[in-house]
Amino acid sequence: MKLLLYLSATVLVTGAVAENNVVGPFSLRITGKTDSSIDGYAWACHAGAATEGLCYSAGSTPVSGSVYEFYYNYSYYESYNYPGYISYVFTYAGADGNQVKVPSFAHIYPSWASNVHSLLIPPGIEEGTPVSLDFDTGFFYMGSLYDDTHWNATTPSGERTEDVSNFHLCYQWTGGYWFRSLAWVSGFEGVAPQNPSCQPVNLGVESLAPT
Ligand SMILES: *[C@@H]1O[C@H](CO)[C@@H](O)[C@H](O)[C@H]1NC(C)=O
Ligand SMILES: *[C@@H]1O[C@H](CO)[C@@H](O)[C@H](O)[C@H]1NC(C)=O
Repeated sequence: MKLLLYLSATVLVTGAVAENNVVGPFSLRITGKTDSSIDGYAWACHAGAATEGLCYSAGSTPVSGSVYEFYYNYSYYESYNYPGYISYVFTYAGADGNQVKVPSFAHIYPSWASNVHSLLIPPGIEEGTPVSLDFDTGFFYMGSLYDDTHWNATTPSGERTEDVSNFHLCYQWTGGYWFRSLAWVSGFEGVAPQNPSCQPVNLGVESLAPT
């Protein structure tokens, strides 16, 4: 699953060296890490007022259509990519009948009663949860995280951080609806999700089907 982000990349130069980049639209591919029967795509499903969830649609044939179109919006500074945002352009009919487009960033909502946190896309770009995209593999991850599973009273020295991809596909409340949709599980890869229906998946980008 090779990245094909050059397809329709737009680059907005916001300063001499820092650049704000938007790549897409692309589809969000969901593949099981342990359960190979999970093979599909995320689509923007209605989760509440102007809020979308990232629901699962099975199938490996490339998809097209507005509910499958996502972007990755990140900044670039002197050869370093900062973590960016998975973006969906929420569209509705305005009072004058014209389409209003609201770029909206995916947000991981922490749960204080579980280590499973659902991904939703509230309207607007104020609340996004930063994620990184590996441009070689095409997979999303969270970068530079500490592993605290061995910590004790001694201050660790020279401790390395790791990149973690702990996306899961779960049956869960997705906003106000019961859906099989994407979540993030706190902890390092391999940790047991408290919700037993969750299964670990890779979340990646893939070119949309030609229309
Ligand atoms: C990308 O982010 C910028 C703000 O940094 C915003 O103005 C723009 O609308 C966003 N575009 C998309 C497609 O998310
Ligand atoms: C604390 O952690 C360090 C590093 O993992 C380990 O070498 C040390 O034995 C630990 N100390 C105790 C008292 O467990």
